[in-house]
Amino acid sequence: MILGVNVDHVATVREARKGIEPDPVMAATLAILGGADGITVHLREDRRHIHDRDLRILREVIPVELNLEMAATKDMTGIALKIKPDMVTLVPEKREELTTEGGLDVKRHKSNLKNAIKRIQGAGIPVSLFINPSSDDIAVAKETGADMVEIHTGLYANARGSKQEKELIKVARSVKEALSLGLDANAGHGLNYFNVKSVAAIEGLRGLYIGHGIVSRAVLVGIERAVREMKELMI
Ligand code: PXP
Repeated sequence: MILGVNVDHVATVREARKGIEPDPVMAATLAILGGADGITVHLREDRRHIHDRDLRILREVIPVELNLEMAATKDMTGIALKIKPDMVTLVPEKREELTTEGGLDVKRHKSNLKNAIKRIQGAGIPVSLFINPSSDDIAVAKETGADMVEIHTGLYANARGSKQEKELIKVARSVKEALSLGLDANAGHGLNYFNVKSVAAIEGLRGLYIGHGIVSRAVLVGIERAVREMKELMI
């Protein structure tokens, strides 16, 4: 199973000062040294974290799968066709949201998704749809012509106890349904060091896409060394 590491929140820290560090491209190369099988970035329409420059340089320097998350708009499709990532994941996007809060409303946006998928696939780029763990949505995703789905694990990640168990069953069932329709199945959102194991155990999953949990852990495991290095410079 592949691990795609999302480096958006390295860029979030950079944007806190609108400077040049930390650079998500540098973080991506280190993630690859750590074993990442792919790098994901979400180029948002408001460019709140990842910038066009990040995507361009990542395309040039990373030797693993580059997954571009984006809204299914004309502008973003144009960027995808120019940059040619290894895959595109279409996601819903609302300006006021903190993160991608739910899966795509595939029924409502079916014809727009179909058109975007056709254009992107025309350039030889496979397309994944980020969807909720729902049988209906998987069936519609298949009808759009997408190659893959990514099942939203946010509800599973945020639930506790028996509710979490129920959400896990929904994710596992969705993976099975996607596979039975000939779609590749990924999962992601909200996964961390405490909840990933049960999802990773789902049979047939192609990959997991994880961002915030890994960047959060990196801050904690790295801060001791960072402070020590600063103290050494002060002697
Ligand atoms: N997959 C998709 C489609 C996403 O939009 C995101 C968040 O950008 C992730 C995975 C990663 O979620 P998290 O940062 O919570 O690990």
